[in-house]
Amino acid sequence: MKILVFTEKPFAAAAVKAIENAINAAGAELKLVERGTRADLLEAVKDANGLIVRSDKIDAEVMDAAKDLKVIVRAGAGYDNIDLAAATAHGICVMNTPGQNSNAVAELVFGMVVMMCRNQYNGTSGSELKDKTLGIYAFGQVGRNVSRIAKGFEMKVSALDVFVKDEVMEAEGVRPLHTPEELFAENQYVSLHIPATPQTRGSIGYDLAMKMPQNGVLINTARKEVIDEEGLMKALRERTDLRYVSDIKPDRAEEFEKEFAARVFFTPKKMGAQTAEANFNAGVAAAEQTVAYLRDGWNKFQVNK
Ligand code: 3PG
Repeated sequence: MKILVFTEKPFAAAAVKAIENAINAAGAELKLVERGTRADLLEAVKDANGLIVRSDKIDAEVMDAAKDLKVIVRAGAGYDNIDLAAATAHGICVMNTPGQNSNAVAELVFGMVVMMCRNQYNGTSGSELKDKTLGIYAFGQVGRNVSRIAKGFEMKVSALDVFVKDEVMEAEGVRPLHTPEELFAENQYVSLHIPATPQTRGSIGYDLAMKMPQNGVLINTARKEVIDEEGLMKALRERTDLRYVSDIKPDRAEEFEKEFAARVFFTPKKMGAQTAEANFNAGVAAAEQTVAYLRDGWNKFQVNK
């Protein structure tokens, strides 16, 4: 069994070692390509039976090149980087590793929020989070971790998730909301945790941003694609109290930064899951899931059924 780990954004060294141990313990062989190009991927995947990636784009061309590929595991949550239909057509199982990096992403939410409400540490007077309202858009693994940490800050937390029952939120002290309009109108801080899908792409823009209360802060550690950048820029232009912070640069980052300066902040590369712990958890889970699928057909987290 040959398992290729291909990551443009490398895992921490200790995580790579643990991944290698998990693969070798199953009698399989690891091929590691970090910071590789597309050409490197097309070459390295040729004899792989399993492929472990992060946000790396895996499409039909990669699958065509990978004649022996049986399973792709996305070490992480979002799998919008993998062409699921092509995988199904190629008879390849695709899995993610749900929950393994969610605490890391949730902690970054607060890292960025505190930075924004302390005016990017520029020495001027900022504001506190205690007693402020936080709306969580999607109450999955990351959203629940955000809610847990928000309680430590004594924030008033509400959430919107059509797939989660009100009782589940209420049991965690979270007020359930039922429309995006309510979420944005009732919360000074709104944290996005929705996946990038045809339904969500470009769904957060002018109308929702304009509904935010005074001094609204929009936090995006989900995907840049869920934002209608033009609409959000228009709202930031009309409402000088609004701010936007995102874990990954928007396509129009330079325009945002030029026009809105310290009211926006973007990480240069997606940093949410970039911790030693998240790398270890997601990487080892991906290695174990890949081996389990190749050996026993184990497919609990298959996403292309
Ligand atoms: C995820 O979907 O798991 C996160 O966005 C992390 O993505 P990354 O592995 O590219 O850092």
